Amino acid sequence: MCNLVNKYNVPGPRYTSYPTVPYWNMETFTLNEWKKTVIKSFNQSNADEGISIYIHLPFCESLCTFCGCNKRITKRHDFEAPYINAVLKEWSLYINVFDKKPIIKELHMGGGTPTFFSPENLKRLINGILNQSILADDYEFSFEGHPNNTTKEHLSILYDLGFRRVSYGVQDYNEKVQKAIHRIQPFENVKRVTQLAREIGYTSISHDIIFGLPFQDISHVEETIEKTCLLKPDRIAFYSYAHVPWIKGNGQRGFDDDDLPIAEVKRKQYEFGKKQLENAGYVEIGMDHFALKTDSLYTSMIQEKLHRNFMGYTASKTKMMIGLGVSSISDSWYGFAQNVKGIEEYYDLLNENIIPTYRGHILNNEDLIIRKHILNLMCAFKTSWIDSDMRFDELPDVLIKLKEMVEDNLIEINSKELIITQKGKPFVRNICMAFDVLLQRTKPETQLFSMTI
Ligand SMILES: C[S@@+](CC[C@H](N)C(=O)[O-])C[C@H]1O[C@@H](n2cnc3c(N)ncnc32)[C@H](O)[C@@H]1O
Ligand code: SF4
Repeated sequence: MCNLVNKYNVPGPRYTSYPTVPYWNMETFTLNEWKKTVIKSFNQSNADEGISIYIHLPFCESLCTFCGCNKRITKRHDFEAPYINAVLKEWSLYINVFDKKPIIKELHMGGGTPTFFSPENLKRLINGILNQSILADDYEFSFEGHPNNTTKEHLSILYDLGFRRVSYGVQDYNEKVQKAIHRIQPFENVKRVTQLAREIGYTSISHDIIFGLPFQDISHVEETIEKTCLLKPDRIAFYSYAHVPWIKGNGQRGFDDDDLPIAEVKRKQYEFGKKQLENAGYVEIGMDHFALKTDSLYTSMIQEKLHRNFMGYTASKTKMMIGLGVSSISDSWYGFAQNVKGIEEYYDLLNENIIPTYRGHILNNEDLIIRKHILNLMCAFKTSWIDSDMRFDELPDVLIKLKEMVEDNLIEINSKELIITQKGKPFVRNICMAFDVLLQRTKPETQLFSMTI
């Protein structure tokens, strides 16, 4: 395994979209083209499956130095109200694009820190969204809560609005690691908010833990998982630390590259953690998630309904996801659009009644086919080209490129399908990279992606 780790540890996308963001073709993207794809997708799918909404709430009170998310560090809570007004304005601009009321299937609040906002402000936000929409019968609302500032009021008010799933950022319980990532967060805080959520009635509680952090060794991973299992969250995201210090403003500093575990150690941390989680009754879902068999993510995997989008894995698929708030990415299935990242610029565009996107991509036929293959690989660890509409010009070349992975027993290929073996699962990003013809055609000159291991 060690040789394979070294061989396949290269920079690579996490494939929350295809084409990946650096390969979006800005030349064919305009706001008008984007709106056309939104209308097409809405008309095709709103009545059957509804739409998803992601709301990005970017403020955090203090900076965690491992964090790769788009955030604004501030203690000024007077930012809350104007930001919520802006998000509701953005939503009203989308409502104008639709010709009927949208049916909301999924709504997720992420960040940043949604629980930076007061419960009352969050209530105004959600009511403002729902006032102009219809709820699907089986709607799912979820949010990311920071264990250090999630209150009983947050949990109760959001529960009353329909939220049943909450995910808490844990990362690692070791003090030295917590100091290095500037996130002091005792177990007691996580225990408190996990128990509160259960008492209030949340049915899916998720914890995020990370391996590959500065100063982290296997014993820290073991201790973190041991403590996590005491609280039995329904889902666990077991992320590989993505070291992307070149992304402007993400604040990944406060430790040196030498403080990070090398790829082989990182892989051992993952293998160790995976066994420990499996022994505790968790099943691995897709690339970096684990769930109890009672959770909808597990059921969705068994029923082959697992889906992946910019938020990671989800239990149900909608063709369209509208991303609201700074830096949010929307996906209409036929196109992607990303909002501006600066808060002031976001406000300025909304004041002029402009949907505040600054870049995007309109998918062509080849993109749509490859996107399906990549989704199949990431969600089901297999894909097939038995249907002619799953074939694309470069498929034969892709299969030739994959020969070495067949020899390494990472995948099996026959005339109609590709199946990733148990041994190959940790290398799923590398396997997707062979299908990523845009990446193959133009190799990046500088490092754009985190390492695959
Ligand atoms: C937006 S944050 C969580 C919400 C809340 N602000 C908090 O910190 O608890 C979502 C999750 O992304 C993960 N994450 C952030 N930066 C990461 C990185 N560089 N590598 C891997 N995972 C990361 C963390 O596990 C984090 O809990
Ligand atoms: S991990 Fe969460 S709290 Fe920390 S900076 Fe990132 S978004 Fe903010």
